[in-house]
Amino acid sequence: MSAMQAAGARARSNIALVKYWGKTAGTLNVPAVGSISITLDALWSDTEVAFDPALASDELVLDGKPRPDGLGRVSACLDILRDMAGIGTRATVVSRNNFPTGAGLASSASGFAALVGAGARALGLDLSPKELSIVARQGSGSAARSIFGGFVEMRAGTNADGRDSHAEPLLPGREWPLDIVVAVTATGEKPVGSGSGMRRSARSSPYYGSWLETHPPDMELCRKAIHARDFEALAEVAEASCLKMHAAAMAARPALIYFNGVTVEGIGLIRELRRSGLPVFFTVDAGPQIKAVCAPDARAAVRDALAGLPGVVETIETGLGPGLETRECAS
Ligand code: PMV
Repeated sequence: MSAMQAAGARARSNIALVKYWGKTAGTLNVPAVGSISITLDALWSDTEVAFDPALASDELVLDGKPRPDGLGRVSACLDILRDMAGIGTRATVVSRNNFPTGAGLASSASGFAALVGAGARALGLDLSPKELSIVARQGSGSAARSIFGGFVEMRAGTNADGRDSHAEPLLPGREWPLDIVVAVTATGEKPVGSGSGMRRSARSSPYYGSWLETHPPDMELCRKAIHARDFEALAEVAEASCLKMHAAAMAARPALIYFNGVTVEGIGLIRELRRSGLPVFFTVDAGPQIKAVCAPDARAAVRDALAGLPGVVETIETGLGPGLETRECAS
């Protein structure tokens, strides 16, 4: 390659309703369990990738700042694409999130999905969404899901080479519009990233085995709830999967406590709102933010309740969003 080749992509963040927590052995980042997520419209990463023969090494600029510390996983993802294209050219990656990075809002999901989409397009690789999902998975497990919009299922797969470990669409968002209110309770980066949290849970949590064993029925319940548009059933399985994941993580040594006090208050508040008849449920990932999923006509009440909770810094509202979008870029 003699000239620069560049492209851009936007990918949305997603949140899991049935969680992924744990990886299989090996270097391919294959999840130990499947997961089911919704893609969020208003939380995105915009990424431009420019392969430039003049570069000696890859460069990463995230939210306007050089981030050499993040290059390991980014370069590993680009290497997969470079191998596919048969080139060794290094790239500049400029990425921007419109929400706090690394605080449990799935910036790695949108970030790696956008990276792979932009990188593949810049190199002229004609990859299917499934192939893009397989590459994105190797950057971050949840990124495999951000290739698709609406309701998405990630299949853990059974092949040792990870070829069947990818996401696929379950239901377009327009078929069952749901809204999400994110209550931000802290904006710093989380102390233990999800990868090391998963490894620690697998190594030391006495509940990790039960987490794996009891996971498949949750997947089935969630699929059924989505296809039946059964909000109450979805709420029940999503809250149970979330708390089970956190219970397994909390029982690790040293303990992994991703909740802060406001997270716990928020969970209580959302349970109270549902008991009083509002269609809303909570989920929480590897960080202290509260994600409330609700019917669109409950959104204003959910937002007002969460915004009024002492310690909530900000609320972000969104509907369900589309999958990966890529674009040409001036190079
Ligand atoms: O995508 P990762 O490897 O950062 O892991 C995501 C883990 C959770 O967000 C806690 C659960 C999930 O399924 O998204």
